[in-house]
Amino acid sequence: MCQSETMHLAVDCSFIHTDHLWAQPGSWVGYHYYGPDFYEDVARTAQRGCFDMIFFGDAAETPENFGGNYDVPLRQGIRWPKHDMMPMIPYMAKAAPNLGFGITMSTTYHHPFHVARLYSSLDHVTGGRIAWNAVTSAYKNEAANWGYDVMMPAAERYERAREHMAVVLALWNSVEADAIVMDREKGIFADPSKVHLINHEGKHFRVRGPLPVLPSPQGRPVVIQAGQSQDGMNLASLHADMQFVSRRTLKSIGEHRAVLDDLTVKHGRSPRDLGVFWSVRVQVGDTREDAIRKERRFLDHLPDNAGLIELSFLYGLDFAKFDGKMRLGDLLEVVQQQQVHWGTFQELVKTEGAETTLEEVGRRYIAERSNYVVGSVKDVADHLEAVHEAGGRNGGIILAKSFDAPGMLRDFVEMVVPELQRRGLMRKRYRETTLRGNLNS
Ligand SMILES: Cc1cc2nc3c(=O)[nH]c(=O)nc-3n(C[C@H](O)[C@H](O)[C@H](O)COP(=O)(O)O)c2cc1C
Repeated sequence: MCQSETMHLAVDCSFIHTDHLWAQPGSWVGYHYYGPDFYEDVARTAQRGCFDMIFFGDAAETPENFGGNYDVPLRQGIRWPKHDMMPMIPYMAKAAPNLGFGITMSTTYHHPFHVARLYSSLDHVTGGRIAWNAVTSAYKNEAANWGYDVMMPAAERYERAREHMAVVLALWNSVEADAIVMDREKGIFADPSKVHLINHEGKHFRVRGPLPVLPSPQGRPVVIQAGQSQDGMNLASLHADMQFVSRRTLKSIGEHRAVLDDLTVKHGRSPRDLGVFWSVRVQVGDTREDAIRKERRFLDHLPDNAGLIELSFLYGLDFAKFDGKMRLGDLLEVVQQQQVHWGTFQELVKTEGAETTLEEVGRRYIAERSNYVVGSVKDVADHLEAVHEAGGRNGGIILAKSFDAPGMLRDFVEMVVPELQRRGLMRKRYRETTLRGNLNS
């Protein structure tokens, strides 16, 4: 997917209306929640910074793990509310005509025919700028919302995902690029010989096809995958164009890339067919001291229990109940039993050390859960360059949520982007009109 060594940029806008950001000084000032104005402005800013894509994650649930109910998440505005961001895409696409949009839909809860038709149609509306973030959905309350008493085990979700993604891709390939003739004189709209049944009969899905949607300007939507357990890595290297990855150190970024390189080749693809967006939280200031001051202000506005709430959300457990002196290593078994984000928990234990206590991690978790950098423009650019290098210059950076919205993006675009461009790491203007074209250039 990333055929050149350009550093590509995405920004994670999942729930940037909530998750502590709403309460930060300066956040959301002058905007109404959920109107298009905010999102249109974010899109314009990202386009000004030559970003490839804005990204929206999703989990259709109300979190109840922390404290056993949703009182604290709702009172503090964490991971709730969660609107479906799909209807917002055409607004943003119009406001920012070169920007791409990554939006999430679950392989566990949505039928592949629906996903293929919806994303392909949206790809037409935006002129070929859509990416599907295919997730296996690791949240128990989300399972309950879609009618399951018990969430499917992780291995089964991944088995289903492998079949789901293969069906979506087959549907997108079921109409050849030149199937449309539109010959008014002969009265022929399409050439039926270029439109194919898929006749899929699998363990989880039966789909006849063809997809009644035309191939879009970028052929088909870009496919993103985000799981980083062994099953997740396999799935990405089989079917995805891009992977979103949350690794905490340069060393584990390098190791992750090496595994992907091996797996893509094993599956008959090239490492360049699968780019990675590495998640990095950026706090940039005019000087290093200024950045540290901003970081302190951000941290001071986080409630004391913020880390434990986030850990509870991700790992399906009530971390409020655990003794703060417990070590991460003691929690391995109980977390694995939840069948949730095992890949990211393994990364946390590997990079923190099994001896680190829950109390220590909880205090720092919001700020340090992913890779991050706090510093001057030079510090930030040096760090991002090092991440890009460690990842084999095959993809780029996805900005993790940070201090306020939309300030986190505006500061990055105005301060860091010119420096990355000056270093020749990223483009100065869009060269292509589609998301796929931009990711490959
Ligand atoms: C960077 C990143 C972003 C993710 N975004 C979402 C998301 O928006 N919605 C979702 O349900 N799962 C999301 N996931 C979860 C994965 O799709 C997967 O279900 C989960 O990580 C469990 O798989 P794993 O153990 O292979 O990591 C994300 C995971 C990562 C690492």
